[in-house]
Amino acid sequence: MTENIHIPQFPESYWRDSIELPSFPRLQDSVKTDVGIVGGGITGITAAYLLAKEGLKVTLIDAGLLLKGTTGHTTAKITAQHGLIYDEFSRHFGAEQASKYHQANMEAKQLIEKLVEQHKIKCNYQQEDAYIYATSEQYQEKLETEKKAYDELGISGELTNSIPLGLSIKSALCMEKQAQFHPLKYLKAIAKEAEKNGAVFYENTTAVDVEYNKHPAIVTRDGKRITCRYVIQASHYPFYDGQGFYPTRMYAERAYIVAVKTPEKFPGGMYINAESPSRSIRSAQMDGKEMWLFAGENHKTGQGQSTMQHYDALQQFAEEKFGITDYVYRWSAQDLTTLDKMPYIGPVTRGENSVFVATGFRKWGMTNGTIAASILSDRILEKENPYAEIYSPSRFQADPAIRKFMRTNADVAKHLIKGKLEYTNNNIDELTPDNAITTRINGMRAGVYMDKERNLHAVDTTCKHLGCETHWNSGDRTWDCPCHGSRYSYTGEVLNGPANEPLNRVEID
Ligand code: FES
Repeated sequence: MTENIHIPQFPESYWRDSIELPSFPRLQDSVKTDVGIVGGGITGITAAYLLAKEGLKVTLIDAGLLLKGTTGHTTAKITAQHGLIYDEFSRHFGAEQASKYHQANMEAKQLIEKLVEQHKIKCNYQQEDAYIYATSEQYQEKLETEKKAYDELGISGELTNSIPLGLSIKSALCMEKQAQFHPLKYLKAIAKEAEKNGAVFYENTTAVDVEYNKHPAIVTRDGKRITCRYVIQASHYPFYDGQGFYPTRMYAERAYIVAVKTPEKFPGGMYINAESPSRSIRSAQMDGKEMWLFAGENHKTGQGQSTMQHYDALQQFAEEKFGITDYVYRWSAQDLTTLDKMPYIGPVTRGENSVFVATGFRKWGMTNGTIAASILSDRILEKENPYAEIYSPSRFQADPAIRKFMRTNADVAKHLIKGKLEYTNNNIDELTPDNAITTRINGMRAGVYMDKERNLHAVDTTCKHLGCETHWNSGDRTWDCPCHGSRYSYTGEVLNGPANEPLNRVEID
């Protein structure tokens, strides 16, 4: 990379930086509505649109700002090709269910396409072929196995040994006619349409519980109530568990994206490798100019090496393979994966008829989030949906879910104990600007960040969810929990649940 390339100092999503979004008030009074939706990402906003259009009264709240969570930080591929998944789903759930998963995601793509056309949304929607490529013989074989699953499930796809992108590969599996877009241009328009049909949005309004009387009520941190007939939890992590034990059935991962300009023209297509570490590639238009997005380097939240190294690895990959003339953006996203990799969409617990969840999209939220909105809207409107059953959160599949359950929760226990035993007593006097340490203040473990102006921000690093110790994330300047993925700003505000209370602030004498 040439020496005068400017590396963005702060993470900032291109999607968010390239659009002006409307702002909405905080909920000031208790209200009554038909459907209360928590979470202003693709699932919540699409559900608000679908339900308001059918004449239901919809109230949507978000703990922060609309479209500032995972939807604002996605790679925004609209595809049913979700890595190597169909052979695995076919063996685990059976061919019929695996095929339905494909159909559900293709139907989500069609719904997005239909809404773009119907409302004439200018969101850079573009049809593209999707490719998974292998660079090793081992993964070439896995692609062949995946292709057999495609054939058995009736999924159209072709194996090829060359791709339009200038990468040396062993083989690739192509799924034609998928798509990409600017997700926030699309959702800004969908939110506006929902508002036209009477949906009401509130920001900076955190849901903390659901109370049951005659009807359920969403309780906010300020003690306001949204009494409704139905609750949709589209808040990434369900804020209300209803003893569904979601923290024990999902794990959180972070992934990174760098947006660069290269000397080469992007040849079209969307790409992801089959191997690890993952490399996902697409293009996007910025002020009429082409930008390449490189994503990947996923790891469990709060675990592993310094997060800046993940951005560096993506930058190095882009530079080695294509060259970089300008480094424009970098940002990261958080995703949840369920034990069997199938999202949880449906009643929060078995037999529940009014409180629903949509979570665990495993990085493929554009289509899974859209189909979630469609499944839950149909359920509320008492319409049959052919995909409701495969996503049911109450499904029980012993293999491999049980083994993974044991592993995931042993990992949580390990981090819970390790965090408590870790002796840390770094010296605040040695702290330099834009860095953080963990230390002890009045005998208590504390995390201290020094900002660029040399102001100190100290928090109690104990996670408010179940008490694990959070770790410093140098790339995003956040405190991240290794147990279930809660994340906090350096001042302690919640950025990602399941925690819904900020970290305690600590006074420095
Ligand atoms: Fe569960 Fe922190 S997210 S303990």
